[in-house]
Amino acid sequence: MTIKAKKGKLGVLTPGMGAVATTFIAGVIAIRKGLAQPIGSLTQMDTIRLGKRTDNRNPKIKDFVPLATLDELVFGGWDIFPDNVYEAAVHAKVIERKLLDEIKPELEAIKPMKAVFDKNYVKKLEGSYVKTGSNKMDLANQLIADIETFKKENDCDRLVMIWCGSTEIYMPESAVHQTVESFEEGLRNNDEHIPPSMIYAYAAIKSSVPYANGAPNLSCDIPALVQLSKQTGTPIVGKDFKTGQTLMKTILAPGLKARSLGIQGWFSTNILGNRDGEVLDDPESFKTKEVSKLGVLEQILEPEKHPELYKDLYHKVRINYYPPRGDNKEGWDNIDIRGWLDYPMQIKVDFLCRDSILAAPLVLDLALFLDLATRAEMSGIQEWLSFYFKSPQTAEGLVPMHDIFKQLIKLQNVLRHMMGETLITHLGLDYYE
Ligand SMILES: NC(=O)c1ccc[n+]([C@@H]2O[C@H](COP(=O)([O-])OP(=O)(O)OC[C@H]3O[C@@H](n4cnc5c(N)ncnc54)[C@H](O)[C@@H]3O)[C@@H](O)[C@H]2O)c1
Repeated sequence: MTIKAKKGKLGVLTPGMGAVATTFIAGVIAIRKGLAQPIGSLTQMDTIRLGKRTDNRNPKIKDFVPLATLDELVFGGWDIFPDNVYEAAVHAKVIERKLLDEIKPELEAIKPMKAVFDKNYVKKLEGSYVKTGSNKMDLANQLIADIETFKKENDCDRLVMIWCGSTEIYMPESAVHQTVESFEEGLRNNDEHIPPSMIYAYAAIKSSVPYANGAPNLSCDIPALVQLSKQTGTPIVGKDFKTGQTLMKTILAPGLKARSLGIQGWFSTNILGNRDGEVLDDPESFKTKEVSKLGVLEQILEPEKHPELYKDLYHKVRINYYPPRGDNKEGWDNIDIRGWLDYPMQIKVDFLCRDSILAAPLVLDLALFLDLATRAEMSGIQEWLSFYFKSPQTAEGLVPMHDIFKQLIKLQNVLRHMMGETLITHLGLDYYE
């Protein structure tokens, strides 16, 4: 596989410059100044084993594959509020003020562009910093012009786009989403089944800018945009960053299943008080999130293959908006499991997590890996990046894989394949591995 050499800067564009995006941007700037560590980022911290165990070849991933360096990144994006990144990060209350003040000039210099927004798709938000246009195609063309201008003004060699905007209302796939032609017709006719997140995804893919979707709304997960991504040679991936409770679920469930322990019920509830929590307080946005969170256990546990262990599994997920906690979410899980002779046991998980602190390193890794995929001419859905998502986007007819350990093996093997190294499954006999 040939990977085009990188040269110059990589621009990272985020539609949505709220808690996650500003924690990512401020984090990268603080890290490159030596003020903090990139903890949680696989590209920056993790190593990869190459060859046999006895070979002792374990380079850092960033030294193994030719990724952009943190110094080469520049940041931009869109929001419905005109606040610069310093103001938005102060408002988000994720990173301490002291650290933000140390990098204030760099953060203040990053200002959002006017958003494509429609309140019908995010009922809880009201924004003033919004584009107007004759129809949705006109708005898409304005985004395409923004992308070109950003690239020129910031002297970027390449760009990536990562949706960090609010969760939109639940919307299943419909006729307008089926082909590039029907979708473009829908843009011209202001079809109501095309929300803003799809307009951004269209603008990115049309501009050959790789696109990742950090929220659970469909965005690029429709046949029309998958087709377009193949036509324009653009990598795409989604949906919904895997952080917090679902991260825990995809760590615990494979372990319980590996020991053939039964699971009768899994009740998950959260309190969070950031803007994301407020948006998710609207039942229509919550529905999108709920669908994304619920698929995970069924796929990992495969009740159809193990009915005696999992056929009666009752899985419930709740999210409660509770302002005093801000971004510091608390997620409780009660898991009713069964052991030898059907004896019941319980597991309680209380995860006092920080939502955006968990999500920011995923934005970084996705930006670097999507740029790598583009230079390796990998277009369409990038299933090897499922590791980062609650509801991985797959080719039509395929079931997404949720087990985080399988996802990691797949990701590592794609990197080995890209660099011409032997794939490792960890399944060989000890003598030969
Ligand atoms: N751990 C996590 O934080 C996590 C995990 C999974 C998914 N997500 C998703 O990531 C997204 C961002 O989360 P957050 O905590 O940063 O939320 P946030 O509310 O702090 O930020 C979202 C920003 O998007 C802006 N926005 C909304 N619609 C827009 C549009 N059409 N164009 C441009 N900007 C728009 C809002 O004004 C807001 O500033 C949410 O959809 C959330 O569900 C977050």
